[in-house]
Amino acid sequence: MPEKRNARKSILITGGAGFIGSHVVRRFVNNYPEYHIYNLDALTYAGNLENLMDIEEKENYTFLQGDITNEKYINTIFDEYHFDSIIHLAAESHVDRSIKDPLAFAKTNILGTMILLNAFKSQWQDNWEGKLFYHVSTDEVYGTLGKTGLFTESTSYDPNSPYSSSKASSDHFVRAYGETYNLPYVITNCSNNYGANQFPEKLIPLFIHNIINNKQLPVYGDGDYTRDWLYVIDHAIAIDLVFHKGINHETYNIGGFNEWKNIDLVKLLCQQMDEKLGREKGSSEQLITFVKDRPGHDLRYAIDATKINKELGWSPTVTFEEGLANTIDWYLNNEEWLNNVTSGAYQKYYTLQYK
Ligand code: NAD
Ligand code: DAU
Repeated sequence: MPEKRNARKSILITGGAGFIGSHVVRRFVNNYPEYHIYNLDALTYAGNLENLMDIEEKENYTFLQGDITNEKYINTIFDEYHFDSIIHLAAESHVDRSIKDPLAFAKTNILGTMILLNAFKSQWQDNWEGKLFYHVSTDEVYGTLGKTGLFTESTSYDPNSPYSSSKASSDHFVRAYGETYNLPYVITNCSNNYGANQFPEKLIPLFIHNIINNKQLPVYGDGDYTRDWLYVIDHAIAIDLVFHKGINHETYNIGGFNEWKNIDLVKLLCQQMDEKLGREKGSSEQLITFVKDRPGHDLRYAIDATKINKELGWSPTVTFEEGLANTIDWYLNNEEWLNNVTSGAYQKYYTLQYK
């Protein structure tokens, strides 16, 4: 377990009811009983308190329902709880939704981050000692790679979607507050996560859900797009490490050393699903359907995670095959969770997105 930088008793984690946030909240609540973890989440369609049922009664945990874009509310909770660190994950996170409603992404991801930065600054600007603003970001800020090359921490920002542009903008504001007001921060830019509790709008859980229900698997374009996949628990471990040992004003890239073309990944997923569901070999692959491409679709993401590996000793603990098998098992064993999140508004989204 990482050594503690100092006793940061009051930690605000934003977006803790979402996919990655829930794994981070669980890790911090369980591993650091001396910290008090405040989970602030607006409970949008992507936020779900069922993700945290196992820790909701813990003494060092408090859930706060609220919106990071509500400045008055944010200032009130800072005055009440004096958070000395923030791990900021709350965001609108799905690229396809950003194409349909870019303003919502600007509001939450840019304005929401700025409101948190302002509140943090107002609280601590006279003495930054022991304080930290940890901004969780994405590799998508770097834009797209061609067939070769890797994103390093010095790759220029070149975002292509409204989602990645809003995340890039929020990263710039965090750095600007660091330079202008001396606000202590770290930023991590991570590749595609997968694992339990991911909302079934993202590739892997969407396709697991569709295979279970014998629905078509809508592969965008020719499926020749590449992503670098990381098991969500390994991301949570990296966040823990950077939180405790990362150097002030530094950025760390986090990735799985695990590139897959979408079509190859989907075929592997189909094979594993056929085995687990006891279906005839090859039956899930028949559900693959090539559909209209995502506008501005980035060809390839791949992270060079050498810096976090060499400087902080982090590397992924789980192979992709293991992680994917665990993920499928989780969805198969949590049918109620899946049914709950795919009822109601989900159906409307699905029809609009895949019409
Ligand atoms: P998610 O969509 O599953 O969860 C986002 C959470 O934020 C939800 O619980 C939602 O209710 C909450 N939220 C949204 N708007 C809010 C607001 N205005 N106020 C308060 N809470 C709000 O997202 P995720 O996939 O867990 O991503 C978490 C963070 O990690 C994001 O910042 C994302 O950009 C980043 N990230 C994600 C990935 C990935 O592969 N999923 C990879 C790299 C970085
Ligand atoms: O790289 C990190 C990013 O990864 C995060 O910052 C984002 O929050 C997260 O959503 C993810 O973005 P992607 O756009 O890469 O993930 P998504 O699961 O939406 O898509 C993965 C790939 O699969 C991408 O090339 C598009 C393709 N795809 C996706 C869906 C939903 C399909 O072919 N069909 C689909 O139906």
